[in-house]
Amino acid sequence: MFISNSPAETDAIGRRLAGDVDAGSIFALKGDLGSGKTMFVKGIVAGLGSRAEVTSPTFTILHEYRGGRLPIYHLDFFRLEDRQSVARLGLDDYLFGDGVSVIEWADRFPEFIPQHARWILFEIKSENQRAITFQGTAPSRSSFRDGGLETAAP
Ligand SMILES: Nc1ncnc2c1ncn2[C@@H]1O[C@H](COP(=O)(O)OP(=O)(O)OP(=O)(O)O)[C@@H](O)[C@H]1O
Ligand SMILES: [Mg+2]
Repeated sequence: MFISNSPAETDAIGRRLAGDVDAGSIFALKGDLGSGKTMFVKGIVAGLGSRAEVTSPTFTILHEYRGGRLPIYHLDFFRLEDRQSVARLGLDDYLFGDGVSVIEWADRFPEFIPQHARWILFEIKSENQRAITFQGTAPSRSSFRDGGLETAAP
């Protein structure tokens, strides 16, 4: 767990993480509004050497950043209403593509997140302090899917 005391520190944690990503890396971000998820993505993008401007994909759902060591697919599930909307995105092209995928609000539709994704939790501790917890992968996720969630929904 990291404690960040400023937006710049959150950016720096993302930059550091960027050294450790490969094509196919997936980061599933969760945490309250304003907890620093987008700030963290800025760090990852800069750390990969891209000078692209990172903005929240809340309304556009997907932003793609080029110019760095790997392409970055920045997704946001916040505004997606249902599983059909998620399915229409053609997520696999990104998640199993040639770049790094980072998904804000991934916990809204965790069943779409591959098991090897790394989950990161953002928590607001005070006005300028955030706790950032790397939760690792989710070994139970495939059994969750086998448990019938995929077929139970309409
Ligand atoms: N330590 C910190 N780390 C990150 N952001 C911070 C920190 N302290 C204050 N902030 C402020 O919190 C806000 C974080 O915004 P950001 O867009 O990154 O959040 P988010 O988690 O992506 O929110 P949303 O769920 O709306 O997408 C910014 O306004 C930033 O200036
Ligand atoms: Mg955001």
